[in-house]
Amino acid sequence: MQYRGNSLEQYWMPFTANRAFKAAPRMVRRAEGTYLYDQNGDAVIDGSSGLFCSPAGHCHPKIIEAVHQQMQTNTYTAPFGLGHDGSFALAAEVAKLTPEPINHVFFVNSGSEAVDTALKIAMAYNTARGEAHRNRFVSRERAYHGVNIGGVSLSGMVRNRETFPMVVPNVVMMRHTWTGDDLFCVGQPAHGKELAEDLQRFCDTYGGGQIAAVIVEPVAGSTGVLVPPRGYLERIREICDQHGILLIFDEVITGFGRMGDPFGAQTFGVTPDIMTMAKALTNGSIPMGAVAVRDEIYECVVDGTPEGAIEFFHGYTYSGHPAACAAGLAMMAIIEEEGLFARSAAMAPYFNDAVMTLKDHPLIKDVRTIGMVAGIELFPESAPGKRGTAMQTAMFWKGLHVKFTGDTAILAPQFIVEKRHIDEIVQKFACTLDAHFPGGSLAAE
Ligand SMILES: Cc1ncc(COP(=O)(O)O)c(C=O)c1O
Repeated sequence: MQYRGNSLEQYWMPFTANRAFKAAPRMVRRAEGTYLYDQNGDAVIDGSSGLFCSPAGHCHPKIIEAVHQQMQTNTYTAPFGLGHDGSFALAAEVAKLTPEPINHVFFVNSGSEAVDTALKIAMAYNTARGEAHRNRFVSRERAYHGVNIGGVSLSGMVRNRETFPMVVPNVVMMRHTWTGDDLFCVGQPAHGKELAEDLQRFCDTYGGGQIAAVIVEPVAGSTGVLVPPRGYLERIREICDQHGILLIFDEVITGFGRMGDPFGAQTFGVTPDIMTMAKALTNGSIPMGAVAVRDEIYECVVDGTPEGAIEFFHGYTYSGHPAACAAGLAMMAIIEEEGLFARSAAMAPYFNDAVMTLKDHPLIKDVRTIGMVAGIELFPESAPGKRGTAMQTAMFWKGLHVKFTGDTAILAPQFIVEKRHIDEIVQKFACTLDAHFPGGSLAAE
């Protein structure tokens, strides 16, 4: 496609150092499979599946074809009070992947919207079951639940809280689960299960019957891949059950095969009450998210409302958009036909070993990995995040896209990768680190 205009000025870029980018842009002109192609036509291997959303590879022909066909027949249906086949079909496909008894799916357009919707579902359910007095949410330090006001209120990231102080009240934070006792860990850390007792302490302090819901990412992704200690999620579930508290798993990153199973819930053997998802639902091709709930929650809210009345006062103009549903249905077919979850599971040990070869590098403080995701934490430079930002740029020009959060790189290869791709990712990562150690000025890159 040809674009008119040659100014970068008007576009205010999200989560980007705008001035630095516009002074030295990194443009992706096309993408195919595991590679992006920059403004010079150079190939850049995608080490993070975009933002953890494209495990089936970029520009998958089946998704392109499905969306193209959909756009020729129906580009939009008003989702309030009208239906189209795609949204019902996709909900049924998603429900095949969620654990029992989670079988009802509400569509949104992003992970952030999924989180805010999950909070509203929790409130609506508590109201419907006569427990509207439950007015407190429990989240966790170093959580990331997106950027809407609900999600920011639940996020345990200091920049979020400092910049946006007016958030939803009555949120309390459990401690995060990175204890430092299990450095360079593959899989679940042995230490830290007792951190789940923070939830018990909130129950003791505020009354478990006052708490509406607890939200956790099965693996905290965006703040650096914090894998739950063994027994931790089980204990959280147990406390929730004892006090009638809803458990929400934010599976926006862990969903759709990142750990070899459909969801983190199956990997860790813990079933929540509500699950949020997005990203890989459409292979990142069209914005879409979803919230899946236990049958009991759907039935209680829906059946508790007089016949003919709207049961849940919530929805988006683009909920279940036909193009997004077509992309999602194509992705569900690709998952099955290409055995994507099995491929993720089969490649994970090779990936885990490969990232652990970095462990002795003098710039690396910790490596945490499970399934097809790894957090590689660098020692900070003079200010937190300075080294990470510089490395992310330097790696791009070395031909590797990797998402950094602060000083931690988050590697999340696509599930279609072969061993040679993993080798290329890790080798380019190591080479870039080497080029800047010792004493090299990262800012000079
Ligand atoms: C766990 C989690 N929840 C929510 C979000 C927000 O998703 P989105 O950026 O699609 O709004 C993210 C994004 O990375 C996430 O990792």
